[in-house]
Amino acid sequence: DDNLVVLGIETSCDDTAAAVVRSSGEILSQVVSSQADLLVRYGGVAPKMAEEAHSQVIDQVVQEALNQANVSETDLSAVAVTIGPGLSLCLRVGMQKARKTAGSFNLPIIGVHHMEAHALVARLVERELQFPFMALLISGGHNLLILAQGLGQYIQLGTSIDDAIGEAYDKTAKWLGLDMRRSGGPAIEELAQEGDAESIKFSIPMKQHKDCNFSYAGLKTQVRLAIESRNINAEIPISCASSQDRRSRADIAASFQRVAVLHLEERCQRAIEWALKIEPSIKHLVVSGGVASNQYVRARLDQVVKKNSLQLVCPPPSLCTDNGVMVAWTGIEHFRMGRFDPPPPAVESEDFV
Ligand code: KG4
Ligand code: ZN
Repeated sequence: DDNLVVLGIETSCDDTAAAVVRSSGEILSQVVSSQADLLVRYGGVAPKMAEEAHSQVIDQVVQEALNQANVSETDLSAVAVTIGPGLSLCLRVGMQKARKTAGSFNLPIIGVHHMEAHALVARLVERELQFPFMALLISGGHNLLILAQGLGQYIQLGTSIDDAIGEAYDKTAKWLGLDMRRSGGPAIEELAQEGDAESIKFSIPMKQHKDCNFSYAGLKTQVRLAIESRNINAEIPISCASSQDRRSRADIAASFQRVAVLHLEERCQRAIEWALKIEPSIKHLVVSGGVASNQYVRARLDQVVKKNSLQLVCPPPSLCTDNGVMVAWTGIEHFRMGRFDPPPPAVESEDFV
């Protein structure tokens, strides 16, 4: 029986997302409600605020996903939900909703790992993508390089020892006074196009470490010092900056981005060499997670991958940033292998998890 219809729910960070996906790979609906106004007000994600925002919209978001897909709960085969990693208060909102829905309609429930979902959604996008493959997962909270040997069989080749790359993009954007109504990444990507990427020589992180781990805390500090020494005032939004000031901010954005991505390039090159020794049949490198929606990141990593005669698989931006489709799809992959929990008891209480 492989005609599954799965609802996916994602609330691990600041986006409330739901989607309905068929096991054929057809995306029946995709709904994301972002907390952009909260990000502006608090300059980042405040867990308690984020939890409240999720609670306010979760019912609506799930209903909208069902409506857009033109299905009701009784048409579903299962409910998939992100169970971690993420902000626990936020995760709980999604898990409660999933349990309530599964309990009321007698549906199996599939707990999904957020980073696995970022990686596996590539198999929905690229149906040729077979195990084993490599994946570079780059988001706000994590940097991971993995060798995926099979479903649930992952070898970690590298991880972030401090900040993830998305965090560095977000802080740089904040310090440069960029418009925070959306996340910092896209704002830096855009501004960097006006700047000279060679103007500031930030040093590449972890040059002396011959491994595949990542570090962005040091680069963040270098950027902050460069901003301070140029007397850039984040209180003055870039839209109000003089042309000289704007130019100087663009130079920092471009120089930061160049080095941030060089670090990824170096780690990927080494990881490919390692991985091919373990699994010579690897043909693909998947690049996914929010930062993978960046065109410069994609172009640079495409070069690395081509040089090694591999192929890059990078989902479209809407499937790179947090979304319900990746959760539903990962749920489908697990469900097919018999990995799911039986329907939870139907409950009245809202706070039963
Ligand atoms: O995967 P994601 O949506 O959420 C987490 O799991 O963290 O990733 C969010 C991160 C944020 O740091 C955001 O600034 C970054 O992805 N991001 C980007 C771009 N779009 C989103 N970074 C660089 N360039 C972009 N175009
Ligand atoms: Zn994510």
